[in-house]
Amino acid sequence: MKNQAWQVESFGENAKWQEVAIDKPKQGQVLIQNHYSSINYKDALGFTSRGKIFRSFPMVGGIDLAGEVVESKSEEFKIGDQVIVTGTGLGENYPGGYAAYTLVDAENIVALPKGISTRQAMIIGTAGFTAALAIHRMQSLGQANDLPILVSGASGGVGSFATLLLSKGAYTVHALSGKSQAHEYLEALGASKVVNLEDLNLGDKPLDKIRYSGCIDNVGGDFLAKILPYIDLYGNLASIGLAGGHKFQTNVMPFILRGVSIIGISSNNAPMNMRKEIWHSLANHLDEKDFARLKVEEIPLQDIDQHMQRYFQRKVMGRLLVKIK
Ligand SMILES: NC(=O)c1ccc[n+]([C@@H]2O[C@H](COP(=O)([O-])OP(=O)(O)OC[C@H]3O[C@@H](n4cnc5c(N)ncnc54)[C@H](OP(=O)(O)O)[C@@H]3O)[C@@H](O)[C@H]2O)c1
Repeated sequence: MKNQAWQVESFGENAKWQEVAIDKPKQGQVLIQNHYSSINYKDALGFTSRGKIFRSFPMVGGIDLAGEVVESKSEEFKIGDQVIVTGTGLGENYPGGYAAYTLVDAENIVALPKGISTRQAMIIGTAGFTAALAIHRMQSLGQANDLPILVSGASGGVGSFATLLLSKGAYTVHALSGKSQAHEYLEALGASKVVNLEDLNLGDKPLDKIRYSGCIDNVGGDFLAKILPYIDLYGNLASIGLAGGHKFQTNVMPFILRGVSIIGISSNNAPMNMRKEIWHSLANHLDEKDFARLKVEEIPLQDIDQHMQRYFQRKVMGRLLVKIK
């Protein structure tokens, strides 16, 4: 079977477009013909060897895929089923979605929920799934809505979905974006206010005047530490990303005097029951109008190498969808 894919041979190299071998499914595995994938920040890190994402080499990239089962050695999935795989080590520990076909253990696969297509599933992809996971976890800790929720890195993939999903729920969203050209887009997604870092004028006090019920943070680093003193009693900060850095230094006051929680979000390792619940909820809550509001660029699989650097130049708005079949 001919399987064209983007594969990285060893750390330090860029992925190369080449034909790669693919095994027949073993017991408990499924062969998927990929319809769509997507580009996430993590994909760009792995593809360009800017980050140590891949656990072994050679590795086919792509942490997301949606497609159709073409061979199955699993009781759960049969030929013709439409399926989604995100995270679970896809495109990190085992060959990913930047290929015509991908072999996946059935335990990592979610059946495409009713109400969305494989294309819409990959507009959502890891980005939308992660935003929904963050909201799910914040709500499990009783996330209040009397003050706005701040979304950082708002114009990116996760940020776009966090803005859309929160504002479709009962939350007022303040979107933090470094892109002046993203204002209109973020307002169309439902943000009631769009701010940049200068507007926030964050100080250095251990606690400051409360501004937000919570925060979905895609930036990390100093920003994460600087926003904690502004979060309300028993509010939550969902730590998702590191676009601005991975280290931070803070103090215990927001935790012990205001009961603020930092919630860790690891979409890659979300348990299967939680995955199914979140995918079903996404399929139920998002309609055609929502998909139309999201910025989506569709790129053929063989051209994705031209778009990876944009993630490090802060030039991506919304989602980059990868068309495979
Ligand atoms: N924990 C998880 O499970 C999980 C899952 C998915 C993604 N992530 C992480 O979450 C982050 C967002 O992922 P994504 O795929 O949505 O990426 P993305 O589309 O590139 O979005 C990241 C956004 O962060 C902002 N940003 C970029 N560089 C920055 C910098 N140097 N300083 C401050 N802000 C910066 C930009 O937004 P503005 O220009 O609008 O400010 C950018 O659009 C990444 O760090 C990614 O690795 C984690």
